[in-house]
Amino acid sequence: MNVLVTGGAGYIGIHTCVALLEKGHTVIVADNFCNSTVDSVNKAMEITSKEIVFYHIDVTDEQALESIFSQHKIDGVIHFAGLKAVGESIMLPLTYYFNNIVSTMLLAKVCLKHQVNRFIFSSSATVYGEQKVPFIETLEPLPTTNPYGETKAMSERILTDIAKANPTFSVSLLRYFNPIGAHPSGLIGEAPNGIPNNLMPYITQVASGKREKLSVFGNDFFTVDGTGVRDYIHVMDLAEGHVAALDNLTAGVHIYNLGTGQGTSVLQLIQAFEEANRLEIPYEIVNRRPGDISSSYANVSKAKRELSWTAKHDITAMCRDAWRFENNREQIKIR
Ligand code: NAD
Ligand code: UD1
Repeated sequence: MNVLVTGGAGYIGIHTCVALLEKGHTVIVADNFCNSTVDSVNKAMEITSKEIVFYHIDVTDEQALESIFSQHKIDGVIHFAGLKAVGESIMLPLTYYFNNIVSTMLLAKVCLKHQVNRFIFSSSATVYGEQKVPFIETLEPLPTTNPYGETKAMSERILTDIAKANPTFSVSLLRYFNPIGAHPSGLIGEAPNGIPNNLMPYITQVASGKREKLSVFGNDFFTVDGTGVRDYIHVMDLAEGHVAALDNLTAGVHIYNLGTGQGTSVLQLIQAFEEANRLEIPYEIVNRRPGDISSSYANVSKAKRELSWTAKHDITAMCRDAWRFENNREQIKIR
């Protein structure tokens, strides 16, 4: 298939491009590089020895989208493009609603016009809010505590309504749990700008000496050791989940959790990282981060049943691959 990957230069997008290319698909990337660089696209081509056609465009620019759809016969789209920093979304709600919602609507509009009927959307486990774990797809989404989360819930509803009104349109809403890790080559991975918001990139920056110590946000949650529990998934497993969703897409709307089904606490992740990489991660316990929930992990039986997909990498592999990528980046900077 010819697959248009919006936001394809970003962290999850580029790993998905590699997985698609390795399965024989043709990949066209559209990205404005607001949170990535063309370097990742070059690295993905190096890994796979295959070509990626890429367009430096904003997905909120309808003319630019039109131009891509008229130049290529697109069979399906995977829509990763979006802004994703929770704290920033509270400061800049209009920026987040505009970027994340308008991009989804325009992409769907152009797909309908060009009869492109396969649409895969990057949603998030954040739409579940705080409810009983494991989260299963039949649970009703709850209002989230921030505009970022709302853009995911709204995009899900918009795409659902579009699919209802257009019976040949097929949509897969993929609710990611916590992607971490990197391609085993160490060439592509997560490279956040500034101070990382998420746990694993913070840990790898402490490991490299860029940050002094990790702040553990609260140890008074009702969990195994009091620290927050999440379902960490290797980004290559997540990437394979997209290929499976695309290959198995049928008309209508399909929601899938993409996680491992296993919960890991912050302290357990620190310990796993230390053991996997023989490094010490200094940390201190601080107050809870506002908006954080206690536990989030997936019921993954639907993806297994309908997509024949399950995550394969364990926490040790995630920790090793995350560190290999960060360590490579640091070595390149030193040289
Ligand atoms: P990322 O920031 O690394 O990638 C997003 C990409 O989209 C970047 O390359 C960015 O430059 C591009 N982009 C943003 N707005 C654009 C626009 N208007 N036009 C063109 N390109 C644009 O983020 P990621 O971690 O790879 O996340 C990908 C998607 O998955 C996002 O929609 C995110 O909200 C969602 N998601 C991520 C996580 C996570 O933990 N990383 C969890 C759940 C959902
Ligand atoms: C966060 C976002 C969520 C988003 C997800 C993926 C918030 C409130 N939630 O989720 O909307 O979908 O990222 O981008 O920001 N932790 C520390 N110290 C740190 C960083 C994190 O202790 O420096 C803890 C957190 O309290 C949490 C766990 O580590 O228990 C994972 O945090 P994080 O990686 O930010 O992911 P989420 O909180 O699941």
